[in-house]
Amino acid sequence: MPSITFVHPDGRAQRVEASNGESAMQAATRQDVSGILAECGGNAMCATCHVYVDENWLARLPAIGDDEDALLDGAAAERQANSRLSCQIKLGAELDGLVLRLPERQT
Ligand code: FES
Repeated sequence: MPSITFVHPDGRAQRVEASNGESAMQAATRQDVSGILAECGGNAMCATCHVYVDENWLARLPAIGDDEDALLDGAAAERQANSRLSCQIKLGAELDGLVLRLPERQT
């Protein structure tokens, strides 16, 4: 069972346990991580699950999809090279220990 860490804008780290196959967004919302709104429920339509992937993990994630890429351009917080949508990050043992930073805002 992978565990991942969300780092809030104030630097506070929040570790959550995830199930294999669950998305990082689902793990966050199930365990009340503030800062992940996920208004569209994980359908890659809202960009309110925007996260910044820790640089050490970036290369281990699957390539960004076209829909995700387009949506990130409209994210409320500044898009950066390590921006991803947490609903598109499927968790498994290979991502145990993943670190995701939360943006200042999602809307
Ligand atoms: S939850 Fe809406 S795009 Fe991720």
